[in-house]
Amino acid sequence: MKEVIKIEGGRRLKGEVTISGSKNATVALIPAAVLANEPVTILGVPEISDVRSLSEILRILNVDVREEGDMLRIDPTKMRNVDLEQDVVTKLRASYYFMGALLGKYGHVRIKMPGGCYLGPRPIDLHIKGFEALGAVVEYERGGYTIHAEELTGAKIFLDIASVGATINIMMAAAYADGRTTIENAAREPEIIDVATLLNKMGANVKGAGTNVITIDGVRNLNGCVHEIIPDRIEAGTFVIMAAACADEMKISNIIPKHIEALTSKLEEMGVNMEIGIDSIIVRNSGPLHAIDVTTKPYPGFATDLQQPLTALLTQAQGVSHVTDTVYSERFKHCVELQRMGAEIEISKGSSTITGPRKLYGDKVTATDLRCGASMIIAGLLAEGTTEIHDTYHIDRGYDDIDGKLKKLGAVIYREKIED
Ligand code: EPZ
Repeated sequence: MKEVIKIEGGRRLKGEVTISGSKNATVALIPAAVLANEPVTILGVPEISDVRSLSEILRILNVDVREEGDMLRIDPTKMRNVDLEQDVVTKLRASYYFMGALLGKYGHVRIKMPGGCYLGPRPIDLHIKGFEALGAVVEYERGGYTIHAEELTGAKIFLDIASVGATINIMMAAAYADGRTTIENAAREPEIIDVATLLNKMGANVKGAGTNVITIDGVRNLNGCVHEIIPDRIEAGTFVIMAAACADEMKISNIIPKHIEALTSKLEEMGVNMEIGIDSIIVRNSGPLHAIDVTTKPYPGFATDLQQPLTALLTQAQGVSHVTDTVYSERFKHCVELQRMGAEIEISKGSSTITGPRKLYGDKVTATDLRCGASMIIAGLLAEGTTEIHDTYHIDRGYDDIDGKLKKLGAVIYREKIED
């Protein structure tokens, strides 16, 4: 048996949705917590399968993990640095944050190659470049990495690409290193600031997070602390796009509007009727929308994670839109699913061309990855008839109770078990 999500489309949404804690911050904060020598409490943890996978890895490391609602209490005082070869390690790419955390804490880590969404090649050469610059020896054998450093010494590291993962992993590996580490061309995503905030609350010395130069002065000890996760800017953007697609009036609450400025400015270009508040956005029925051109870039540019959900909306815009993804050139599998529903989309290497408006019809579609899943949900809400979305596990990795949130907004969305 397998589970599908079914959506009966053509209904207008109305009401308020509260955004959960950031998945992409959470999956880094949980490994970072083990750097402390005392318990760390994280608040605002989203209810997603990636968190369950990471908690399973913590338990393998003999870290005590206690969940109370959206609070996670992580106690690393009795942890053991065992090899991470279990299947759960390959369930998500963010397992690789245990490389930086365990290397930083113990000077040694053995871990299987991480998994995650297929968006084209996703190497970790920049992570390894950083670890080696700090004095580690990195070996790849038997489908995993063994990383060892007699001692970790601060170094200057230039990232050829402003990689989110490499920036965070190097920050963690450098927390206890001897002396100063400087990361040049660091990624500037808000999730990096959130991890740096947690490390500094623990007693680390990280400066410049959010800019393209980050320095980390190694310390001797990191204490416990309490940290609340920033709201999920990609979930927020997904719901704002959804509202633009099919809401009479929708309030998206618990957001940091600045984090999705690149999106809201593009939606304004389309003619979407938005009222941007301090920590919320109200979207009202906007009438006909204009086609636009979008090119994804590292933060603060337009987020690659939002080009897939936006494409569902662009099928309804008047005219020809162009989407170019400069981060992941193969992140266009959602276009094939949208074509199946009636969208007019041409796909070429690294970009897509969408001609609208085109009526969408419910069909059987597949969530090929997390944000394709979001795109399918938006298309399903727009379409005439019922849409059946397969491989729903991708969606549950990154969206906390998306069904429940949509039901409260008036959507007809439910799950069914069907024969494999
Ligand atoms: C993070 O992935 C996010 N995941 C992704 O979100 C997001 O799409 C991506 O950043 C870009 O914003 C998490 O935070 C868990 P990168 P990450 O390292 O860190 C290349 C989602 O939907 N690169 O910034 O893996 C890489 O191939 C997920 O929530 C190297 O070449 O992204 C890509 O083209 C999907 N070598 C570009 O850099 C490296 O060593 C950006 O990757 C590392 C990356």
